[in-house]
Amino acid sequence: MYNNIDFNNKTILITGGAGFIGSNLAFYFQENFPNSKVIVFDCFRNNEIFPNGNLKSFGHYKNLIGFKGDVICGNINNQVDLALLGDYKFDYIFHQAAISDTRVYDQEIIMKTNVNSFHDLLAISKKDSAVMVYASSAATYGNLPSPQTVGKESPENPYGFSKYIMDQIATRYLKENPDLSIVGLRFFNVYGPREYYKANTSSMVIQLGHQILDGKIPRLFKGSDQIFRDFIYIDDVLQACIKACDSKQNGSYNVATGIPRSFQEIADILQNELDTDLGTEYFSNPYDGYQMNTKADILSTRKNLGFMPRFSLEKGIKAYIPEILRLHGTDIS
Ligand SMILES: NC(=O)c1ccc[n+]([C@@H]2O[C@H](COP(=O)([O-])OP(=O)(O)OC[C@H]3O[C@@H](n4cnc5c(N)ncnc54)[C@H](O)[C@@H]3O)[C@@H](O)[C@H]2O)c1
Repeated sequence: MYNNIDFNNKTILITGGAGFIGSNLAFYFQENFPNSKVIVFDCFRNNEIFPNGNLKSFGHYKNLIGFKGDVICGNINNQVDLALLGDYKFDYIFHQAAISDTRVYDQEIIMKTNVNSFHDLLAISKKDSAVMVYASSAATYGNLPSPQTVGKESPENPYGFSKYIMDQIATRYLKENPDLSIVGLRFFNVYGPREYYKANTSSMVIQLGHQILDGKIPRLFKGSDQIFRDFIYIDDVLQACIKACDSKQNGSYNVATGIPRSFQEIADILQNELDTDLGTEYFSNPYDGYQMNTKADILSTRKNLGFMPRFSLEKGIKAYIPEILRLHGTDIS
């Protein structure tokens, strides 16, 4: 347990609950608060793809096998679908549904999905006096130098901009409704079980893990020992979500370890865990303006949420290995 909140007999909405973070939340409540009522709302995947070749939504039924709560297939862009939520009175809303692919450049669809729907979700939280914890992102910082600090944002893509606008909407909504509890969590690079179905957009931990299990030399951008990210294990993300429910102060918070690690270190830790010695193959980084270093400032997250990351990269990868092994070679469609 991360705090003293008893979620038993509470009604909890998880939008995007068939996705990576949302489905982990659903199981967290099911396992720790068996008398909580959890409702997953997600459009799931269909065959539609963006011009970048990735699916338009990544929700997958396999993330929810074993889940006993309510599952509603609905689109947050569709008022008729959202009306299905009118049958409930929510105590907590974890709003995870979004186009999570940072390399989608269709600004209209990103803004409609990530921003317009937020107004509707906030209206539900206001109607029900539900605590709102929503997913923001490290992408709000763009390529600003580390440490990434709340209050200094400069998004560099439509996805990052959409989250930046969500944070502003939340701030304004709180001014108009000071009794509400609304917390935005800026997740950095999350990895862990139930991300597999994000395919190309899943973390480098599982992608490199599966390359190694294929017997292939892990492939990284040239200079990957100097490209750093603030990687965060899913259990620490769950910790932040739960602690956000009794935050000392509303606002946006970084969810990360505060300790940058390189992509090379991921490959090396994986090879160590999987007992291989394949070396590394390097190729040129095709991206202009690539972020070379993220390191979150998590002081306010520590202070107001009581957040304390528990998983180093070594510990997170070790915990994740059985799942990486189990999924290796399984159908991803
Ligand atoms: N995973 C990360 O590293 C990371 C980092 C920063 C922020 N985030 C944010 O956290 C949240 C969860 O991310 P995730 O990694 O679990 O991604 P995900 O893609 O696995 O989950 C998002 C879910 O939203 C659903 N969805 C998409 N469009 C929808 C729509 N129009 N209506 C209903 N459902 C819809 C998808 O089907 C999917 O199940 C997202 O808001 C994402 O932007 C994630």
